Amino acid sequence: MDIFHIEGPVKLKGSVTINGSKNASLPIMAASILAGGCSTLKSTPNLSDISVFSKLLICLGCKVRKDSRGNISIDSSVIDNTIGEYDIVRKMRASICILGPLLARCGKAQVSMPGGCAIGDRPVDIHLRGLRELGAKIYLKNGYIVAEVRRRLTGKNIFLGGPFGSTVLGTANILMAATLAKGKTIIESAACEPEISDLANCLNNMGAKISGIGSPRLTVKGVKNLNPIKYNIIPDRIEAGTFMVAAAITKSQLHLENCRVDHMMAVVDKLRSIGVTVEAAGTGCIVRRKGPIKSTDIITQPYPGFPTDLQAQFMALLALAKGNSIIVEKIFPDRFMHVAELGRMAADLRKEGRAVIVAGVKKLIAAPVMASDLRASAALVLAALAAEGKTIVNRVYHIDRGYEKIEKRLNPLGAKIQRKKV
Ligand code: EPU
Repeated sequence: MDIFHIEGPVKLKGSVTINGSKNASLPIMAASILAGGCSTLKSTPNLSDISVFSKLLICLGCKVRKDSRGNISIDSSVIDNTIGEYDIVRKMRASICILGPLLARCGKAQVSMPGGCAIGDRPVDIHLRGLRELGAKIYLKNGYIVAEVRRRLTGKNIFLGGPFGSTVLGTANILMAATLAKGKTIIESAACEPEISDLANCLNNMGAKISGIGSPRLTVKGVKNLNPIKYNIIPDRIEAGTFMVAAAITKSQLHLENCRVDHMMAVVDKLRSIGVTVEAAGTGCIVRRKGPIKSTDIITQPYPGFPTDLQAQFMALLALAKGNSIIVEKIFPDRFMHVAELGRMAADLRKEGRAVIVAGVKKLIAAPVMASDLRASAALVLAALAAEGKTIVNRVYHIDRGYEKIEKRLNPLGAKIQRKKV
């Protein structure tokens, strides 16, 4: 198992290019199932989650090839297996998004029911409700979701809202299934995240007829076939947000290239309000902090609100603010595994239900800490860049799921991160 030794505090300087989005790549890889033929996805990140999803597609019969420039070609001419096995799904919950495309193309699918994970309960009831509305028969057998449809899925008006807003992968699943359904589907309360818009744009390039992209009402006119394509994935807004916090927490300046600031307005607004400068520059932006960090309140919300996937990283940043901040988690109410670990680094945090009160401290102090999930581990790495001494981050495989060789990207900027095997 790999661990990080991180020496702090450091100053960062220079330029970093943001990779393609993980959370856009995964459903778009699933969309390739819908078209029998060879699709090429450009700018996919080199992450373990992408490799696991490639394995899943290979198990279904696809031929998947990846080159060093981040291009993945997926030949889905033959799908001879419609089962998403437990062994793969337990490693990555996003596997659930093969359900819609398999059902639409093959008329049947079985996917292991995803269990809970470190960020809390993650039900898939809305995915199943949506697919049932399109005419699928769905039941649970031996821990697997079994979905079948006699002839073809049929378009319908579907409401996808849930107790915590819409569902990102649920919208992806229903959207993909609806592209090949008979007639018109209207998805109300669709997720508006840029990753869903990217999927919808990709599907339209494949020949789908989707309108309302970017809004909570998606209209899909079903077509008989979709075609394979070449498609360029959008930059990863969560990776970009993490580098923005890296600049802010170390009181440094970084140039982020290939960064869609227009996908990050809530984040940029929050950074500006706490004393961090974000200026458009070329294909991205320059992020700089000179003065103290001001305290603030953050409430995570569905897009275009503040993303839950940056909540932990901002908690690390606000731990060093002047004054008290409150962070409320409205998407995954239990996504607070990083609180105790940041506390080990001398952050002053108190959890109250789905909120955390962050009392700013003058400095963070290095400690051995445990990464628990992807974004929580990113928060620990960020805290370690600013903390005094050597922080040891255990279980860095969590961070490898969503950040491509983070030490190789941060070290040229001035970080001192060593990856060690234990
Ligand atoms: N929900 C339900 N029922 C459902 C589906 C979701 O109640 O059937 C609830 C969830 O429990 C949660 C809320 O709805 O409270 C939103 O969950 P959502 O379905 O939108 O999450 P997801 O699609 O499983 C994606 C990202 C997550 C990101 C969330 C929210 C991917 C692969 N994953 O998950 O990303 O946090 O949307 O934006 O796209 C990450 O990258 O670290 C990550 C966890």
